[in-house]
Amino acid sequence: MSGILEVSGDWLALREPEDAAARSLDLALIAAELLPDGPIVVHDLGSGTGSMMRWLAPVLGPQTWFLHDWSADLTEQAINHVRPADRYNAGISVFGRTGNLADLSPNDLAGASLVTASALLDVLTSEEIHTIVGACVAARAPVLLSLSVTGGVQLNPRDERDTAFEDAFNAHQVRRANGRRQLGRYAAPIASGLFADAGWQVRQSTTLWRLDHRRPGLLSEWFAGWVDAAVEQEPQLRDEADRYRQGRLAQIELGELSARIEHVDLLAWPSP
Ligand SMILES: C[S@@+](CC[C@H](N)C(=O)[O-])C[C@H]1O[C@@H](n2cnc3c(N)ncnc32)[C@H](O)[C@@H]1O
Repeated sequence: MSGILEVSGDWLALREPEDAAARSLDLALIAAELLPDGPIVVHDLGSGTGSMMRWLAPVLGPQTWFLHDWSADLTEQAINHVRPADRYNAGISVFGRTGNLADLSPNDLAGASLVTASALLDVLTSEEIHTIVGACVAARAPVLLSLSVTGGVQLNPRDERDTAFEDAFNAHQVRRANGRRQLGRYAAPIASGLFADAGWQVRQSTTLWRLDHRRPGLLSEWFAGWVDAAVEQEPQLRDEADRYRQGRLAQIELGELSARIEHVDLLAWPSP
């Protein structure tokens, strides 16, 4: 399928514990209260290897999940992964749906009690977000959209070069690549505005990755990807990047670097 940017299962596994710690449980509990009694059907969009399902399933009652992703490989990993139990400690049912979310129709969400997504919105285009929000509004089920980046990054200790890399990374996030322009940090406000325009209620919560000596592997991987993307966007940063990277990696090895990476979670639901 053209335009697909492959996400690695290893990267999703590395970030899963931090994603679980960061997502807003408060919004998840509000979403749970909006659900009907009895068995529910959840559609997770851009489900990857199923991290959102493993995090949310234990909060909900009897449930069936439909995992939507354009990667058949990641969807298969999600289905074959050890399954979480529901809040009554009973098993859950899981089905995969391989396809491009750009083509999501209200029929694909027929019967949904809840629609979820995690770490998805910022990699979508404007057209895809309009399509997805349109399908959700037609389905009239609450929508929990976790972990969209806002572009906010704070490294501690500070370095005067941080801002140049942050700006270049944020520009990289919204570049046109493989025929698509992702929305990056603009994605969550746009989705929120579209739900509000449809007359839906929207709540949001700032959610943070807090990376430090407790997760050195994730901190180094995230930092390497952040700097590489910044250099790809602004090649004149390349020479400085080598020195910057070396200094920061030495701090990670010594357990002296921490990073706060800001995200936002959204919950939207139709007004009664
Ligand atoms: C950053 S990963 C997040 C995966 C998972 N939700 C998680 O939290 O671990 C984004 C996922 O969205 C999928 N994806 C991105 N754009 C998509 C599209 N247009 N159609 C279908 N899947 C898409 C990718 O294949 C990937 O699995």
